[in-house]
Amino acid sequence: MPWALLSFSSNDLMSLIKPTRDYGNKVFPFSVSSRYLITMTSRIPGFYKLPPNERLKAVAEQVAVGSEEISQVERGLVLDQAEKMVENVIGMFQVPLGIATNFVIDGQEVLIPMATEEPSVIAAASNGARMARGGGGFLTSSTGPVMRAQIQATGIDDPFAARQAILLHKDELMAMANELDPMLVKYGGGVKDIEVYVIDSRLGPMVVTHLIVDCRDAMGANAVNTMAEALAPRIEQIAGGRVYLRIISNLADLRLARAKAVFRAEDIGGPEVVDGIILAAELAVVDPYRAATHNKGIMNGVTAVVLATGNDTRAVEAGAHSYASRTGRYMSLTRYERNRDGDLVGTIELPVAVGLVGGATRVHPVAKTAVKILAVKSADDLSRKIAAVGLCQNFAALRALASEGIQRGHMSLHARNVAVQAGAKCDLIELVAARMAAERRINVDRAAELIRELEDRGQEGV
Ligand code: MEV
Repeated sequence: MPWALLSFSSNDLMSLIKPTRDYGNKVFPFSVSSRYLITMTSRIPGFYKLPPNERLKAVAEQVAVGSEEISQVERGLVLDQAEKMVENVIGMFQVPLGIATNFVIDGQEVLIPMATEEPSVIAAASNGARMARGGGGFLTSSTGPVMRAQIQATGIDDPFAARQAILLHKDELMAMANELDPMLVKYGGGVKDIEVYVIDSRLGPMVVTHLIVDCRDAMGANAVNTMAEALAPRIEQIAGGRVYLRIISNLADLRLARAKAVFRAEDIGGPEVVDGIILAAELAVVDPYRAATHNKGIMNGVTAVVLATGNDTRAVEAGAHSYASRTGRYMSLTRYERNRDGDLVGTIELPVAVGLVGGATRVHPVAKTAVKILAVKSADDLSRKIAAVGLCQNFAALRALASEGIQRGHMSLHARNVAVQAGAKCDLIELVAARMAAERRINVDRAAELIRELEDRGQEGV
């Protein structure tokens, strides 16, 4: 049964919805009936020890996914679906899909689907999210789902006059664009404004018109590109030049998602760790060499969710890195401070252009299930959750770097993989991995020896 439907009296209800400091097992009342409650938690102790099919079942018990969606994840994308997605298909390139646990975002328990080939990313996100729970988890906000399209007019003798001419026709141009997408307008989206810039270049001045489009639940590339192409001839008439480019801008600075979390000093290793993280993060503010690696760590989390939900990873990455360079120097996308209580406060702000309609999100069966697992209400909601994952991933990396380094975590994961390769099952995986990591001897032969040794000891104990 995917939904945990329980029956309680109103007294039970009141005692259950009292929030605990840990936000553990928070209870969300739904309006199905006052007699039914749906409990949901992203804290699933021992999740990582389960075999994959048991993990999938454990996820299904928490969120609204049914047996059809479970089998879609098990089956994955099939060839005839892939044929409809891209050209010249010859097969499938698979990437593991995992679940990061422990997230509380805007007071809601959330399980995070992440598609990544990199070991440690999902474990680090889960670990970081666990440490954020004491401070209430992640709080998010956004600017809304607004994108820009650019229309480049060239060969204009009087570019400033052309700019003003385009602005004089603003209402007409906006109406023309909105007529192209009545559905978008019906749902509250559409062109909201027009901006015009005169940009000097080696090849003379260019008059660049920006269509500012609220894309609602779409990522928006199709909608805004269609509008930009349709407006180009009219802009040529008004400005008197020749239009070449008409395309979306991936510097989605009007589609910013933000997240904030307080990591209590006592939960993350004490005041020294707080200091270490603040100092490590500062280097990414002042030094582009460090900022690149720091932001790469953020994108480990961001891209994994963008990919899992069938969104365009390159669009989000282009947006993030160009936004990180907006001052003229490439900088970190996060900031860390110490609050009055001595706790660490982390914040992130980046463009996250993702959608729920159109594209692979609606076609790819695993992406559809990933969206359900996240229980997002809108593309904007998804973008904010992605920002929270980015912050969490960054915090987890900085905490490791500012204390024990990242290699220990990597090695213990590697040790687990080696233990599994040598045939360890269930609890033995952890025992064998821990021994090999402690001995710093991680290889299949040693794992096999330890399995025999621990199994013999187990037999003796019977
Ligand atoms: C590795 O994929 C990501 C890190 O390098 C990020 C960072 O250095 O902050 C660990």
